[in-house]
Amino acid sequence: MITPQPGILKITPYKSGGFIADEAKIHALASNENLLGPSPKVLDAFENASKRIKFYPDQAIERLKNEIAITHDLDPKRIIVGNGSEEILQLFGRAYAGPGDEVLMTKNCFPTFHIIANAVGATPVFAPEHHLTTDIDALLNYVTDETRILFLANPNNPTGTYIPKNEVKRLCDNLPQNVLLVLDSAYSEYVTKYDYSDGRELVDDYPNVVMTRTFSKIYALAGLRLGWGYCSKEVTNLIERLRLPFNVNAIAQEVGITALQDREFINKSRAHNTRWLAWFNQQMTELGLNAHDTITNFALIEFPQAKAAIEAHKLLLKNHILTRPLMGDLHNCLRITIGTENNMRHVVNTLKSTLLQRC
Ligand SMILES: Cc1ncc(COP(=O)(O)O)c(C=O)c1O
Repeated sequence: MITPQPGILKITPYKSGGFIADEAKIHALASNENLLGPSPKVLDAFENASKRIKFYPDQAIERLKNEIAITHDLDPKRIIVGNGSEEILQLFGRAYAGPGDEVLMTKNCFPTFHIIANAVGATPVFAPEHHLTTDIDALLNYVTDETRILFLANPNNPTGTYIPKNEVKRLCDNLPQNVLLVLDSAYSEYVTKYDYSDGRELVDDYPNVVMTRTFSKIYALAGLRLGWGYCSKEVTNLIERLRLPFNVNAIAQEVGITALQDREFINKSRAHNTRWLAWFNQQMTELGLNAHDTITNFALIEFPQAKAAIEAHKLLLKNHILTRPLMGDLHNCLRITIGTENNMRHVVNTLKSTLLQRC
């Protein structure tokens, strides 16, 4: 009898927001991609890089690491690059947790966190949130002698909320040094709050703190699979042993460099998001729906009951708009990516016309 490793059968396979085969036929608002991109410069870089794919990629990922270091003013020797940031999250799981261990996360967290905990045979533990926002004291209360990793997305997906840098620092100050704190800052480029930090300074100050970032969100490269992490020398050393050879493909390595250099595209995308998120939330409020206060590239819209959220999801789908229904505490909500002006106006007009028909 072949027997799987413990934990694997506890995983519910991840269901994505939906595969987009033809962008012209659907308003793709389910997976928090940046619908403004990729930028023309990045598409040129993609074409150039594709001419060299008969060769293996650079195993050291040197040029991309250097570009990340220059862009973010970091030490290139402490940067890890992965096939999406999820690969790096998984590497942390494999490096530091196993059977008998606990992996801590918030109740409405990014599902990859509990998939990883189960995959390595550890127990996922969920700490309650306060008004859908990370509660540091609750997290600290849930730390036990078995806790090995704390995964924290800041801002969080799917709640879209964040905690300020002084709160994250308080968490670091009170967390036992033998617990790895993984700060997943996938949405950090969208945040415009003065009291927010992606956590890089904490990585420098606390050896048990690491940070991950992605090219899948504001850089508009979700399909390319590229992400990176920033860690202490010791953690980097360990992950470099564990990551498989050539884990980052040659096209991603080249395109990532151009994407980092195209600051104009990033600034334009952030400004667009800030404007249309506010507009969209205002429109939803005027329709009598509860638009949660998100600071990411998605809105979290609450309907009076789960049934109404599902109905809205179906109605939008009929009108070629794909949104994301949620589960658990958020079963009466839809998560809706902030897309182009056209995308957002189409959602609003569709919802408005149905509500008018009902009156
Ligand atoms: C919190 C969070 N982290 C990471 C990711 C995925 O990152 P990647 O595409 O780099 O694997 C997502 C994507 O939705 C996310 O919401």
